[in-house]
Amino acid sequence: MWIRNAWYVAAWTHEIEPGRIHARTIIDQPLVLFATSDGGIVALEDRCPHRFAPLSLGRLEGDALRCMYHGLKFAPDGTCIEIPGQKLIPRSACVRRFPLAVVGSWVWIWMGDAAKADPATIPPTLALDDPAYRLQAGQLDYDAHYLLIDDNLLDLSHLSFAHEKTLGMDMPQWADMRPRMSPIDRGLRFERWHTGHHPRGFMKKLGAEVDVWTTYDFVFPGIFLQRTAFFPAGTAAASGSTAPQGEPLFWRIDEQAVTPVSPRTSRYFYAVGTRAQDIDPDKLERLYAVTTTAFHEDKRIIEGQQKLIDLEPGRTMLPTSLDAGPTQFRKLVEAMAR
Ligand code: FES
Ligand SMILES: [Fe+2]
Repeated sequence: MWIRNAWYVAAWTHEIEPGRIHARTIIDQPLVLFATSDGGIVALEDRCPHRFAPLSLGRLEGDALRCMYHGLKFAPDGTCIEIPGQKLIPRSACVRRFPLAVVGSWVWIWMGDAAKADPATIPPTLALDDPAYRLQAGQLDYDAHYLLIDDNLLDLSHLSFAHEKTLGMDMPQWADMRPRMSPIDRGLRFERWHTGHHPRGFMKKLGAEVDVWTTYDFVFPGIFLQRTAFFPAGTAAASGSTAPQGEPLFWRIDEQAVTPVSPRTSRYFYAVGTRAQDIDPDKLERLYAVTTTAFHEDKRIIEGQQKLIDLEPGRTMLPTSLDAGPTQFRKLVEAMAR
């Protein structure tokens, strides 16, 4: 069952080019997105009310969208403003419009009751062009249910194995040490120290050994906002289990969003980067390349998992102490669905 009363990431803002019509599907709902002349973005149901032709096969005429089957024309608010050869336009001749908001560089869409849509509840994210940061963005399409991708992000112990040559290189701590987990609105927060980490490659300049404070918020439907702060060795011991004070030596940013498309397809949006002073553009390229390789490592495993689950849907999985995050989050999703 889909949860409709929630904000979903529909696209990167830079994907919605003026003058173009974009077809998207989110939770099995076909949508048509386009930019208007005032700089806004509109999302309508991708279905002409006349004979159900996809409006994404239509034509933009200024800020209006014309169905290119029999020519009905719709204003950006979804009301019909023209029926060829007919003066009377019935009130029912309108297309559903979905509430939309831009926060950071993501276009967020509210798939449920419009009266309940409150943009203030959208988690804060960075804009890709924020001059204080250097960020690079990508996306992946998955043949898997979105909750399998969520499970992966809610249990980073897999970094030590699935990413042993990329993100989890030389970091058995990911699998060996459990994070502290606490509830937040529609999600969970994870915090942990990794001590005695030996930076590699261009990170060597940070020192032979550093302590790493990793924290992320994970919010429905799959918004992952992580900060990884590198501190001189000894900071963890001085801070106890709480958040460290002071400026980190290096600050890695990961912002990701999982969007369910259908029961077996999802879209995964991601941005990786640092503060502007932390990294040169060519090093950011490398960071992005390693991250993208790692996300393909996840994709291979998760799509394989989906195939095996579908082969024998009744089989139960073996629970371990690694599963606290995924288990807690699935309970939250079940409660939201109820
Ligand atoms: S289906 Fe759109 S005008 Fe007929
Ligand atoms: Fe991963």
